Amino acid sequence: MKTQIFYFSSTGNSLCVARDIGNAIGGEVELIAIPGALKAPRPVTASAIGIVFPVYMWGLPALVRRFVEQLQIPASTYVFAVATCGGNAAGTLAQLRTLLEKKGILLALGEVIRMPGNYTPMYGAESERSQKKRFAKEKIAIRRIAPLIADRKAGKVDCGTWLGRRLLSGFVYNGGMKQVPASDVKFRSTEPCNGCGLCVKVCPVGNIVLVEGHPRWQHHCEQCMACLQWCPQVAIEFGGRTQGRRRYHHPECSASDFVW
Ligand SMILES: Cc1cc2nc3c(=O)[nH]c(=O)nc-3n(C[C@H](O)[C@H](O)[C@H](O)COP(=O)(O)O)c2cc1C
Ligand code: SF4
Ligand code: SF4
Repeated sequence: MKTQIFYFSSTGNSLCVARDIGNAIGGEVELIAIPGALKAPRPVTASAIGIVFPVYMWGLPALVRRFVEQLQIPASTYVFAVATCGGNAAGTLAQLRTLLEKKGILLALGEVIRMPGNYTPMYGAESERSQKKRFAKEKIAIRRIAPLIADRKAGKVDCGTWLGRRLLSGFVYNGGMKQVPASDVKFRSTEPCNGCGLCVKVCPVGNIVLVEGHPRWQHHCEQCMACLQWCPQVAIEFGGRTQGRRRYHHPECSASDFVW
């Protein structure tokens, strides 16, 4: 039995979850990056698919939403999802369940896994000790859900509270997501930039070009923070609060995992 796991990740949390699920469920597993699948749609050839992604602004990243909207699978396909977040996913999986239902597809299982947060405009990377605690809990969660996924069984879909769904994933999300594409006007490169071009490569939507050896953002941003997190020179800042904040990426991932 084949399983295809479609994932989006900018700093590795969701990629590691996707890998861990793949290793735990056994059988034939294919991991497919959503940014690539959007550029060149991949046929779904498995009886089960997973969608693994980070929570953005208490909801689905725009890129994941686009992916699900164009997804074509038989209604009989077993679909599971994992949303990784820094603290509160609110109604993110309810958004996904509704999107899938519109296509006549059932979300059989939906898990939220808390991982280190990567939204540097609000906070720096947490301590290694605290990160390790979260990684240990992630492994426990995977051990719990992997047998269900392997046996194609239904489980709980974590849809958060009524207030979280209405207020955070509804009102706040709908307003905030409209601002995201042009929010990249707040990015700038600083003096240590040496024109290496890595920020261009890790951007999942081709939103950066190099002009005279420095990045220029093109205003169709996803705000994933990959450019800021992976810059080897720590030469990208966003607004006025990221300077001096520790950058984050999952210790089991490297920048080459994010060259789409
Ligand atoms: C633009 C943006 C918005 C985010 N919004 C939330 C949020 O609403 N709630 C939350 O708990 N974490 C939020 N986070 C944190 C990420 O969901 C979390 O760190 C996730 O595990 C990152 O996954 P990745 O490493 O696979 O990209 C946000 C991160 C970014 C970049
Ligand atoms: S990754 Fe950093 S150093 Fe390299 S071009 Fe981009 S901003 Fe400059
Ligand atoms: S420009 Fe930076 S934050 Fe925006 S989508 Fe690309 S990598 Fe992500």
